[in-house]
Formats: sequence, C-alpha cells, structure tokens
Amino acid sequence: MQSDASKGAPVRKTLLVTGGAGFIGANFIHYTQTHYPDARVINLDLLTYAGSLENLRSLPRPDHYEFIQGDICDQKLAEDILRGKGVDTIVHFAAESHVDRSILGPQAFVQTNIFGTFALLEASRQVWLTEQAQPIDRVRFHHISTDEVYGTLGPDDPAFEESTPYAPNSPYAASKAASDHLARAYLHTYGLPVTISNCSNNYGPYQFPEKLIPLMITNALAGKPLPIYGDGRQIRDWLYVEDHCQAIWEIIKEGKVGECYNIGGGNQPANLEIVKTLCAILDRQMPDSPFKPHEQLIAYVQDRPGHDRRYAMNISKIRAQLGWQPRHTLEEGLEKTVSWYMANLEWLDAIREQGDYRKWLDDNYQKRGTR
Ligand code: NAD
Ligand code: TYD
Repeated sequence: MQSDASKGAPVRKTLLVTGGAGFIGANFIHYTQTHYPDARVINLDLLTYAGSLENLRSLPRPDHYEFIQGDICDQKLAEDILRGKGVDTIVHFAAESHVDRSILGPQAFVQTNIFGTFALLEASRQVWLTEQAQPIDRVRFHHISTDEVYGTLGPDDPAFEESTPYAPNSPYAASKAASDHLARAYLHTYGLPVTISNCSNNYGPYQFPEKLIPLMITNALAGKPLPIYGDGRQIRDWLYVEDHCQAIWEIIKEGKVGECYNIGGGNQPANLEIVKTLCAILDRQMPDSPFKPHEQLIAYVQDRPGHDRRYAMNISKIRAQLGWQPRHTLEEGLEKTVSWYMANLEWLDAIREQGDYRKWLDDNYQKRGTR
C-alpha cells in the first residue's frame, strides 16, 4: 500500500496512544510507524490480560516510539506525559472491550471506560487548556468508540447514522456511551478539541482470542468446538483492522473538531456464515488437518444474555467528508487473518498457555455446555 504521508508534507505529531498494546492500538502503532514515520508515538498501557508487548515487536521506527506502563485512571501520570513529552494528539483506545466479560464482571468496565476516560479528559483540560502547553489549534483528543452505543437493529432497519440516538444494551456498550458523552461534554463546556469515531466490529492480526473470529480460528486449529451463541443469525458489520487505522488517521488529519464519524465495513453476513467461511479457509490452507472439514466442529451453545441482533453502519459522512472507505473485502480480510494466525502460532500458544485465559474459557463456556 502506498504511504499516505508520501502524498503530503511529513506529519510531525506527537501522539499519546492509550491502550496501544491491545488489538487495535497495536495495529494503529504499526500503521503509524509505517505510513507516518515522522510522527512520535508514546504508548500508555496498563498491560491487562488484553495487552501484550509481543504485539509491538519489530516496529519500523523504534526511535520514534516509547512505552509507558500505567493506568489511564492515573490523572497525574497522564498530565506528566502530556506536559513532559509535548503531546499534541491523544488517540484514546484503552478500554475493557469484551461484551461477555462485561456481563460477568461490569465493574472494570465502569472503572476503565468511564473513570479512565474522565481522568484523560481532565488531564488534557489541565495541560492543554489551563496551562496552554501547546497552541490550542494544534491539539486534538480523538476518542475511539463503538457502534454498540446505538443499540440493536431489526432486519429491515436502516443502518446507524451519527445522529442515531444512543441506546446501549450491554454494560460494555453503556460504559462506552458514557465515555462518549463525557468527551462530547468537554468539547462543549471547556472547548477541548475533541473528535469521536464509532466503529463496527474489527478483526485481523493481534486480536485476543476471546472475540468471535480469533476464538474460532484458535479452537479450530486445536480441534475444539466452535461455540455459536443462540441461532447464529446475529449480524455484525465487520471491518479489517488496518482499514480502521487508516480511517482514524484521516480523522486526525482532516476531521473537523467536534464531529463524530461512523466507521464500518459494510459486510453483513450472519455469525454462522462467518464461522463457515473461516472453516472453509482453514480447510483450504490446511489440507492435511485431522479436523477437516472444520465445519463439523460447530456447536450451538446457550445464547449471550441481552444479545444484540444486528449492527450496521452508515458511512456516508466519513466517505463524503474525508474520502475514506474500506479497502479490504471481507473475503480478503478473513483470508489474511487466518494466514496471520497460522504464521504466528507462538504468539497464540503464549496466550493459550496462560492460566487467566483458560479460566476465562471455563467461566464463559463451561456453563454453556462447551469450552
Ligand atoms: P483490547 O481489549 O484488545 O485492548 C485494550 C488495551 O487497553 C489493552 O492493551 C489493555 O492492556 C489496555 N488497557 C485496559 N485498561 C487499561 C487502563 N486502565 N489503563 C491503560 N491501559 C488499559 O481492545 P481493542 O479491541 O483493541 O479495542 C480498542 C478500542 O476500540 C476500545 O476503546 C474499544 O471499545 C474500541 N472498539 C473496538 C472494536 C473491536 O471490534 N475490537 C470495535 C469498535 C471499537
Ligand atoms: P464478539 O467478537 O464478542 O464481538 P461483539 O459482541 O462486540 O459484537 O462477538 C461477535 C458476535 O459473535 C456476537 O454476535 C456474539 C457472537 N459470538 C458467538 O456466537 N460465539 C462466541 O464464542 C463469541 C465470542 C461470540
């Protein structure tokens, strides 16, 4: 892919990326170092179960990258970083991100997603607005959110627009909605230069194998059941993670302060179809697998409580205003994703061997009749 930065002047921003050791954050740092090599990146991450420095090996510009282990709820730490490192752009990914975990334990979601975002907003207000450490027209707080804040759609409902009222259904979605509202309030009340993006389900390299796509690949490789919640007819709007990273950069560069942008892939097969497609790709990529055809591993299990039926994103605004649209079809993205996991079995094994991960599988799947 051609470097976006090559189209114009070098981008010399200093970014504070929160949650950069997680799935999308790590992809965003790789993307930034590849396409915007003049940008400096400071990665603030607590390294919870979902974060790993293994996701950030072999970065192309290590001289433009720094890792700080810490909690986004620590406002003083965030202020020290903004002040001390001359940060002009925050890209805020850090969050508890898994709906099933939010059902079994919502507390951490309220703490990190709501209080953590609040602490970052307060730190930005102090350093950027009160102390004026940077010219106001150079700073930006970009808040990463999700389509799940909009609730669920019926089969014939139009896709979510930026003006769709919020109606979150899970503790995860509610905590993200609350953080979006806080970000919006800091713009309107204090004039903090905020942008927000709401994105649909991502998939791709480095995704922790608790989410649908990497869990199915991981289980299929081990010949374990592929647990389909309920009837498997739920619909998500899948987006290859690299396309999300590109969209975020378009917003940072060209997005208008105060605006929200919906980002999505426009791909809408049901969960069951996604899993069958993954099985077919695995059959092809592993002709000698003893578990072929992998589809035989599909197992219907007890549904998720409050399971949203359908998400779909209307991306007309970001397409019209910033010229962004997804570059990967679902087929290309899934093929690349399966290849990545098969080429990175050591990465996967390191997670599979963790006691925490095995405990999660027991907690979430044993009562559903599979694990
Ligand atoms: P993830 O769970 O893979 O990673 C989260 C990262 O945040 C981890 O590295 C973790 O260590 C870090 N973190 C958690 N709590 C922290 C804290 N208190 N302080 C500092 N760091 C902390 O999540 P992801 O899938 O990469 O999602 C990133 C962001 O994108 C989230 O805000 C999520 O809501 C949003 N989002 C995700 C998707 C998706 O499909 N994954 C879709 C739309 C939006
Ligand atoms: P997930 O990847 O957890 O993302 P989200 O809940 O944020 O959309 O789940 C995607 C879809 O896959 C969702 O409809 C729930 C379903 N699902 C299963 O059927 N089985 C599973 O084991 C998991 C993790 C998810």
